[in-house]
Amino acid sequence: MKQKIIVTGGCGYIGSHTVVELIENNYEVVIFDDLSNSSSETIDRIEKITGIKPTFVEIDLKDELATNKAFKIHNDAKSVINFAAHKAVGESVQKPLMYYKNNLYSLINVLSAIEEQNIDGFIFSSSATVYGTPNSLPITEKNETQRPFSPYGNTKKMAEEILDDLIKSNKNLAAISLRYFNPIGAHESGLIGELPTGVPNNLMPYITQTAVGIREKLMVYGNDYPTKDGTPIRDYIHVVDLAKAHVLAVDRIVKKEQEEAFEIFNLGTGNGYSVLDVINSFEKVTNSKLNYEITGRRPGDVPQLFAAIDLAKEKLGWVAGKTLDEMISSSWSWEQKYRATHKS
Ligand code: WQD
Repeated sequence: MKQKIIVTGGCGYIGSHTVVELIENNYEVVIFDDLSNSSSETIDRIEKITGIKPTFVEIDLKDELATNKAFKIHNDAKSVINFAAHKAVGESVQKPLMYYKNNLYSLINVLSAIEEQNIDGFIFSSSATVYGTPNSLPITEKNETQRPFSPYGNTKKMAEEILDDLIKSNKNLAAISLRYFNPIGAHESGLIGELPTGVPNNLMPYITQTAVGIREKLMVYGNDYPTKDGTPIRDYIHVVDLAKAHVLAVDRIVKKEQEEAFEIFNLGTGNGYSVLDVINSFEKVTNSKLNYEITGRRPGDVPQLFAAIDLAKEKLGWVAGKTLDEMISSSWSWEQKYRATHKS
């Protein structure tokens, strides 16, 4: 009998890649998604990759009644992975209440519903942005969290605090928070990948959209940082490596192997790459010249972020395996394949 996992936001970038890995590890998956930043076409693409079509429930998790009803129907789920959230840093600065409402109302409704239905495992999609400007590098899970620059980042920090309080009050519930560094790349099939709505915030999709002709040129936000080439350094991690870590976290929680009721893991490669490293790698991998211009700094950017990866290696038995070139090559393949059938 397959064990059922509910994946909120499972039609999204990281969610869809995680659903593929869960199915391929013999879990039954139910996706809850409002399709506000994704398409139901992703369900068919997941089926093409895995041969199995996950159950899909189109739902607004800000709607408490609908959320309770959906969880009651699927109360045989062994665990829930919560990806559902808005995630555009820049947009969150412009529309903070939309972010606090969407990301936290939905989280609280989901947590209330799993308490009500006695579902005892919860995995949270968090972010390295909760560390703010790190006071030491590489960043370990023991680094203190700081007030993130953006409301988006603050919803992640607040969500972890809500989780921590809930776990203390409900001895039956176990939770794992996974703090992503910079997810990029796409599934080798080229059928699923990152598809930001509107103008991309993030570096990788902006690069591939520039190369494919949707954007005129990439603006490099500052080269006067205290780094090797003046551009900010990030820990880019392949989305499939990230997805595999989620399966290991689900295994851990379902098998009740956790050592603490609430565990937190960084998900990164432990390597830092600058913006110019990424551009140079893209040009090498694609054998092309990228059109870019150095401009001023972007507010809120920190000089360096890269992960200490020992804890996830020790407790989850997980290490990211893919190289920067592999990440970039897979992003490019996805962009080209997608634009071959979708003009914009
Ligand atoms: C990376 C580097 C930019 C775009 C954010 C969130 C994090 C996660 C990932 C959601 C920076 C530079 C970027 C561009 C550029 N979000 N850049 N020109 O800011 O590290 O992290 O996205 O899951 O929580 O905080 O990622 O890709 O936006 O930027 O020069 O057009 O690329 O300055 O140095 P970031 P990013």
